[in-house]
Order: sequence, then structure tokens, then C-alpha cells
Amino acid sequence: MDALNLWRRRLVLICGWWLEIRGGLPNLTNLEFLDLSFNRIRSGSLQQANLTNLKFLDLSDNRMSGSLQELGICNFKNLVELNLCVNNFEGHLPPCLVNNLTILRALDLSSNQLTGNIPSLNLLTSLKSLSLGYNNFEGPFSFGSLANLSKLEIFLLSIEDSKLQVLETENFLQPPNQLKFLSLINCNLHGIPSFLMYQNSLEFIELSHNKLVGMVPTWLLQNNTRLQRMYLINNSLSGILQLPNSTHDLLDLRISSNNLSGQLPMNIGVILPRLRHLDLSQNSLEGYIPWSMGEMKSLTSLDLSSNNFSGELPKPFVSGCPSLELLKLSNNNFHGEIFPQFMNMTRLGWLNLDNNRFGGKIQDGLWKARFLLELDLSSNSFSGQIPDWIGNFSHLSYIVLSNNHLEGGVPVQLSNLKGLGYLDISENRLSGSMASSFNLSSQVQHIYMQKNALNGSIPNTFFRSPSLVELDLRDNNFSGSIPNKIDDKLTNLYFLLLGGNRLEGNIPHELCYFKHLSILDLSHNRLSGPVPSCFTNVPFWAVEDGYHGYLHLFSWVTSDGGDNLLFTSYNFTLSFQPFIEQMFVSLQELQVGFVTKNRNESYKGSILGYMTGLDLSSNELTGDIPSEIGYLRHIRAINLSHNSLSGSIPESFSNLTNIESLDLSHNKLSGRIPPQLTQLNSLAIFNVSINSLSGPVPDKGQFGTFDESNYGGNPGLCGPQIKRSCGSSEPTTPPATLSHEDESAIDMLSFYWSLFATYVTTIMGFVLILWLNSDWRKRWFCFIDACIISSYCWILRNVFHMYDDI
Ligand SMILES: *[C@@H]1O[C@H](CO)[C@@H](O)[C@H](O)[C@H]1NC(C)=O
Ligand SMILES: *[C@@H]1O[C@H](CO)[C@@H](O)[C@H](O)[C@H]1NC(C)=O
Ligand SMILES: *[C@@H]1O[C@H](CO)[C@@H](O)[C@H](O)[C@H]1NC(C)=O
Ligand SMILES: *[C@@H]1O[C@H](CO)[C@@H](O)[C@H](O)[C@H]1NC(C)=O
Ligand SMILES: *[C@@H]1O[C@H](CO)[C@@H](O)[C@H](O)[C@H]1NC(C)=O
Ligand SMILES: *[C@@H]1O[C@H](CO)[C@@H](O)[C@H](O)[C@H]1NC(C)=O
Ligand SMILES: *[C@@H]1O[C@H](CO)[C@@H](O)[C@H](O)[C@H]1NC(C)=O
Ligand SMILES: *[C@@H]1O[C@H](CO)[C@@H](O)[C@H](O)[C@H]1NC(C)=O
Ligand SMILES: *[C@@H]1O[C@H](CO)[C@@H](O)[C@H](O)[C@H]1NC(C)=O
Ligand SMILES: *[C@@H]1O[C@H](CO)[C@@H](O)[C@H](O)[C@H]1NC(C)=O
Ligand SMILES: *[C@@H]1O[C@H](CO)[C@@H](O)[C@H](O)[C@H]1NC(C)=O
Ligand SMILES: *[C@@H]1O[C@H](CO)[C@@H](O)[C@H](O)[C@H]1NC(C)=O
Repeated sequence: MDALNLWRRRLVLICGWWLEIRGGLPNLTNLEFLDLSFNRIRSGSLQQANLTNLKFLDLSDNRMSGSLQELGICNFKNLVELNLCVNNFEGHLPPCLVNNLTILRALDLSSNQLTGNIPSLNLLTSLKSLSLGYNNFEGPFSFGSLANLSKLEIFLLSIEDSKLQVLETENFLQPPNQLKFLSLINCNLHGIPSFLMYQNSLEFIELSHNKLVGMVPTWLLQNNTRLQRMYLINNSLSGILQLPNSTHDLLDLRISSNNLSGQLPMNIGVILPRLRHLDLSQNSLEGYIPWSMGEMKSLTSLDLSSNNFSGELPKPFVSGCPSLELLKLSNNNFHGEIFPQFMNMTRLGWLNLDNNRFGGKIQDGLWKARFLLELDLSSNSFSGQIPDWIGNFSHLSYIVLSNNHLEGGVPVQLSNLKGLGYLDISENRLSGSMASSFNLSSQVQHIYMQKNALNGSIPNTFFRSPSLVELDLRDNNFSGSIPNKIDDKLTNLYFLLLGGNRLEGNIPHELCYFKHLSILDLSHNRLSGPVPSCFTNVPFWAVEDGYHGYLHLFSWVTSDGGDNLLFTSYNFTLSFQPFIEQMFVSLQELQVGFVTKNRNESYKGSILGYMTGLDLSSNELTGDIPSEIGYLRHIRAINLSHNSLSGSIPESFSNLTNIESLDLSHNKLSGRIPPQLTQLNSLAIFNVSINSLSGPVPDKGQFGTFDESNYGGNPGLCGPQIKRSCGSSEPTTPPATLSHEDESAIDMLSFYWSLFATYVTTIMGFVLILWLNSDWRKRWFCFIDACIISSYCWILRNVFHMYDDI
């Protein structure tokens, strides 16, 4: 090929992400090939370019808007391939597009805002590939409007929220026309479209997010011997999973989120010997993992989570399946010991066995999985120690061992894991102290060790991890003081939970260095000295508008499982054809539970982004409440109860405009309840019981809703709510002291709330997405319809666009 000649006719600008064209392109009359995909080009940039001779145009993933006419599409009579996906084009499909671009071979208009009916496309007789999904089309759509596209091989449609009605009755593509790739996502289908009866060349079929009922259409496999991938996710298919009677070369089968029941076919490994990906999660399947699965030498990912499977993992399975990279068996009833010596899954990267009944020690067989990235064994019955060799994995970044019976110390070898980002060993029986030099990776973002029996002092090094987002050491036996050698560059910490230990000494003012601190729980310790006044330096409490934006934790990693078999036969000049590789993505959604005595709510996603709270209750704090606490305008919960705080309630508390819960009970506070507090409109919980307050109880605003129990044990208080007349003068008698010891009265009267945060990770879904050619980002967008769990696409898109506006 004459490269120079080619270059003169082609203009390829793959700057990705940044390119903007100011002032428009010059006159490019002779240009035949233009690829400006994945930039930030806006409409108007191409107006003077006179692109009448273009044959190939790729403007996918830009910022084009306006109608297709304005783009000049009607002048591009020589177009052979046109890719406009992921833009903001609007308006109807222009008649010239469906009438005049008769030599068009590939057309991708997906992910725009096109409206109106989809007209008959029957004049586009050269079309081989057509993608129309993710627009705002409306009206009826009949497959018949494609009936004359005798060359059509690839068709994608997803109606999402648009008002399109797919007519199921209408047939199209009777023989000899044969599709290779069909994706009808979220098209409101109740049955398998009947034209599929006449198809026998399908290589890919996706009918996910519809309302399909009945049995799994096994006949699609029998009719289409070349079928490689079948995705029927999120339908209402039921009954047992039937397989064809003879072997089939299927590579990828996903029927998650349906209503399948019964056992897996015993011969699944024999019938589908080449299978690489099997996802049957979220069904009602039961019984054992069939022995024959050990024969699936290519099996790369297996997700059977959230079913009712039981039994031990069969030996042929554990010693077979050498290609397995992802094994997810969460939320079933499996039992028995795992990772014996004969385990042979040496390529495992993701292992999720949480919420089963596995038990025994964590055995050495696991160590054969040298490439392990994620390990979740939580909520089982594992016992014994955390093995020392856990520090020998070179890639391990996500460890969840919570809620087991593990004992012994926290192995110091964890510090060898250079990529560790997430460590959860909470709710076990771990004990002993950690060396003050105990040092986790500088990448570590989340540390959960709560509800163990760990003792000694809190390692200083935790407070020097630059990436740390959350540290939860609640309910252990940690003693000594809170480390105060805090790096003021440590700005990522959002959640610091040290409650329920034996910490002593003052609250170090260095804690105020944490710029993003949202929730601080130091309750139930032996901390003494004053409440620091520096909390006004914490921007999320005092300055910024209460939204810290910390929503999701992403961990995503690519696999090298090179899966690029599909579509190599497609032959477009532009990259419509996905050249598939695979990427494993797992998403953890943050969820923090706030528990009060009469409310138990958990916050997650965007709501969590607004949660802010300070809990210093049940310590030995003394002195006045600093008036600065009143300036924490964006804080939603403050608990200073069960201390020995004295002085009066600062009037500045009237500035706590977002406060929902304020507990000052069980202290030695005196003076009046400032009447200005009635300005606090969000206040739902207010408790000052067991203090030495005096004077009238406010009754305006929210205060009309607080009853006697919130004021008890303050003999000097008066007012209608506590049924004690104020008389003409305030009482001067000193308050009685008995109430401090009167525990039963406390229980009756005091409202006690404890703020704590629980991190519940929900693996929202293991998303196996398509990795398209080397320009993977660009290609990903242009084939967004093929995203396997399409509802998660937006998340992934948000990730890709994360830095867009920087
Ligand atoms: C663009 O170039 C073509 C041929 O080179 C010429 O005929 C046409 O007038 C030019 N248009 C503009 C706007 O310069
Ligand atoms: C575009 O180029 C063609 C020649 O290829 C010329 O005839 C035509 O006038 C040009 N149009 C504009 C608007 O420049
Ligand atoms: C499209 O084709 C029709 C005839 O099929 C013709 O009348 C019309 O002018 C063409 N439109 C454009 C914009 O070329
Ligand atoms: C398909 O083409 C035939 C002739 O080739 C024509 O008679 C028929 O009307 C076309 N069907 C549609 C739906 O356009
Ligand atoms: C596909 O399977 C159905 C049901 O088994 C059958 O009726 C039909 O003839 C088959 N079609 C082809 C093309 O094999
Ligand atoms: C499942 O499919 C329905 C449409 O049938 C859709 O509304 C829903 O969002 C899908 N659920 C998920 C989790 O994607
Ligand atoms: C497999 O063969 C049996 C009898 O040989 C038959 O009853 C069954 O329907 C066949 N299954 C499929 C999926 O064709
Ligand atoms: C699943 O099937 C059971 C009976 O097999 C039925 O009771 C249940 O409603 C079905 N669930 C869904 C979501 O279709
Ligand atoms: C799960 O299977 C067990 C037997 O293994 C059975 O007792 C139980 O009822 C099943 N649970 C559900 C929800 O089907
Ligand atoms: C483990 O798998 C390898 C191939 O990956 C194979 O050669 C070996 O025999 C297997 N070992 C066992 C114990 O099955
Ligand atoms: C791909 O294109 C080349 C050259 O254009 C051609 O020779 C080849 O047959 C095409 N392959 C397919 C599968 O269409
Ligand atoms: C805080 O409240 C006091 C008393 O209500 C008021 O005088 C003061 O201006 C407020 N300060 C701020 C910063 O809002």
C-alpha cells in the first residue's frame, strides 16, 4: 500500500479527549477519510470544510449538536461509512439520509438525542451494519422497515427511555438474509422475535433487559452453530437450563437476573467445552456444581452468585479449570474447606466466596493463585490465622475477610502488598497489638478492623497514608493516645471511626488537618481534656456546602484473557467492528449506616455524600463547649453526651443550620437553653437530659416536638413541655445530683444515640466489558450498546469522562 498516497486522502486525528477545533477546518474538498472521533469538537467546525467527497466519516464521541442536516449530511453523497455515535445530535432523521445515501455500508447513530419516527430504511440497500440505540425515537418500529436490507448483518437497538414501540409480530429478514450480530436491549420484548426462527448464522445475540418469559431458547444454539455469545440478562426466563443434545462451541453465556430454577445440567462441561464466560447469577438455581465443569479448560469467568447452590466444590472442578480468572460464588449455600493442595486455578484474579458456609483454615492451595487481585471470603466460617503468605501476592489489592472466626494477629506481611487499596478484616477474633511501624501500602484507601480484640496503640503509620479515605477501628481494645503525628497532606480521609476502644489523653488538634473529614467517631473511649475548637478548620463541616462527593470506590483492572475472536471477519474501514478483548470491572458502592436508638438508616450513593457527623460521646471530656462548634454550619449530627462538659450551651449553636441531631445529655451543662436554637429548622433530635440546665424550655419551631424525655434530670428547667410552671422567677436552687447515678431513670428518659458508620461493600456487579481494539476508549463508546450489563454503562462512561472538565 502506498502509505504516502493514503495519507493525503486520510486525515486521522486521534488526539483523544482534548482536541477542539477553533475557527473550523479549512477547505478539504478532496478528503475521503476523516476520523475525528473521541474529541471535543462542536458543531460548526466542519461547515467550511466542503467535505463533499468524503467516503468515511467518524465523528463519534464529540460534542456535536444540532440536526443532521446542519452537519451537511445531505451533501455527503459518497459516504460509505458514517459513525456519529455519542454526540448530541437532535431532530428527525432527514429524508435525504434514508433516501440518498444509498451506498452507505455502515451507520451508527446511537447515543444521540434523535427524535421522531424511525422511517423505513429500505432504500439503504447496501447497509451491512446499523446501530440506532440510545436515542429519543418514538412511535412504532417494525422490523419490517428493514426487510429489504438484504446485506444487513449487524443490527443494534435499545429504546431505553424513548417512546419507541417495537412491534413483535412483524417479520423481517426471511431467508436468505442472515444476521450475524443482533442486539435488542431494553426493547420491551415479551417473546423471542419470531424472525429468529429463520436465522442460522448468528454469532452474537443479546436480548437483555426485556421481559422474555418461558424457557431459555436452547433452539437458538441448535439453529446457530456458529453462535459465540448469547446474553439474556435481566428477563423473566424460568425453568431449568436446558442445553443442546450435542456439543456446541459457544464461548459466552449470560442469563443472570432471571428466574431459572433446578440444577445445572450434569453434562454442561461436555456440551459446552469451549465456554469462556458463564454468568448465571441472580437466579434460583440449586444443587451442586457439576463435576463436568472441570472439563471446561477455557473457562475464564464463572459467576454463580446469588442462587441457592449448595454442597462442596467438587475436586475435578477445583483441580480443573486452569484458565479461571474470575470465580464468584457469593450468596449461596456452599460449604466445606477450600483451597486444598490440588487446587489448580493458578490464574485466578478475582475470587468472591462471600456469604456461604465455607469453613476451616484458609489453606495453602490458595497461594497457587499468584495473580490474585481481589479476595472476598467474608461472612463464612473460616477459622485459624490469616496466613503469613498473604503478603506474597504481588498484585493483591482488595482483601475482605470480615465476619469469620479468624484469630491471631494481623500479619505484618500485609505491608508487603504494594498495591493494597482495600483491607477489611473486621468482625473476627483477631487480637494482639500492631507494631507502631505497621505500615500498609501508600495506596491504601480503606481499612476496616472494627469488632475484633486488637490492642496496643494505634499505629502512627495509618495516619500517614496519603490515600486513606476511611479508617474504622471501632470496638477493639486499642489504648494509648490518638496519634498526633498527622501529615497535613493527608487530605483524603473522609471517615475516621475510633469509637469503642480505650483511648486516652486529649483529642489532638491535628485531626483538624483532615480537610475532607465528614464523620468522626471517637465515642466510648477514655478521652479527656477539652473539646477542640479547631473543628471549624474542617471545611466539610464549616465552610463548604455539605457535599463531599465521595460516592463510589472503583477498582478496575484489565485482564489479559485475550478474547478477540469475534468480528475479526468484519471488514469496515472505520472501526465499527468490535475487536473484543475483555476487562473485568468491579464496583463497590459505599454505604454507611447511621444507627440511632429509634431510627436505623443506612445511607448510600449520593445521600451519603451529604452525611457529616461528630460523635465524642461517652468519654471524659471536660471544660466548656467551644463556641466554635456552633460554626459547623454543614454538620448534620453532633453527639457530646456522656462527658463532663460544663458551662453553658453556646448561643452560636443557632448557626448549626443543617443540624438534624444534637445530643448534649449527661454532662454538667448549666445556664439556659439558648432561645435562638429555635431557629434550627432541621433539628429532629435534641437531648439535653441529665445536666444542670435551668430556665424555660424553648417551645417554638422544632422544639414543639421534643417531649419531656429530652429534658429530664434538669431540675431547674421549666415550661409546659415538662409540665413544670416557670413561675415569675427562675429557680435558684442548685440541681440535684442523684440523677447522674440513677441509671434506670437514664434509660427511661435519655435518648441515647450512637453514631457509627458501617461500610458495606456491595459488589454492584462484575462487569465484563468489551475492550475494543487498541483505541479502546473510543471504540468502547462507539459500541456502547454491546456493553454487557448496559445499565452500568453510564458509570463507566462517567469514569472515562472523569477528567473531561479539568
Ligand atoms: C474549496 O476548494 C475547491 C476546489 O479546490 C474550490 O472549488 C472551492 O471553491 C473551495 N471552496 C472554498 C470555500 O474555498
Ligand atoms: C466544494 O467543492 C466542489 C468541488 O469538489 C465545488 O464544486 C463546490 O463549489 C465547493 N463548495 C463549496 C461550498 O465550497
Ligand atoms: C435525494 O434524492 C432525490 C431523488 O431520489 C432527489 O430528488 C433529491 O434532490 C436528493 N436530495 C439531495 C439532498 O440530494
Ligand atoms: C422491498 O423491495 C421490493 C422490491 O425490491 C419492494 O417491492 C418492496 O416494497 C420493498 N419493501 C419495503 C418494505 O420497502
Ligand atoms: C430453528 O429452531 C426452530 C425450533 O426448533 C425450528 O422450528 C426452525 O426450523 C429452526 N430454524 C432453522 C433455520 O434451523
Ligand atoms: C431490567 O430490565 C428492565 C426492563 O425490562 C429495566 O427497566 C430495568 O432497569 C432492568 N434492570 C437492571 C438492573 O438493569
Ligand atoms: C434431547 O434429546 C431428547 C431425546 O433424545 C429430547 O427429548 C430433547 O428434547 C432433546 N433436547 C433438545 C434441547 O433438543
Ligand atoms: C419465579 O418463579 C416462581 C415459580 O417458579 C414464581 O412464583 C415467581 O413469581 C417468579 N418470579 C419472577 C420474578 O418471575
Ligand atoms: C435452598 O436450598 C435448600 C436445600 O439445599 C432448601 O432447604 C431451601 O429452602 C432453599 N432456599 C430457597 C430460597 O429456595
Ligand atoms: C494443573 O493444570 C495444568 C495445566 O494448566 C496441568 O498441566 C496440571 O496437570 C494440572 N494439575 C493438576 C493437579 O490437575
Ligand atoms: C475484507 O476486505 C478485503 C479487501 O477489501 C477483501 O478482500 C476481503 O474479502 C474482505 N473480507 C470480508 C470477510 O469481507
Ligand atoms: C452565630 O449566631 C450568633 C447568635 O445567634 C450570631 O450573633 C452570629 O452572628 C452568628 N455567627 C455566624 C458566623 O453566623
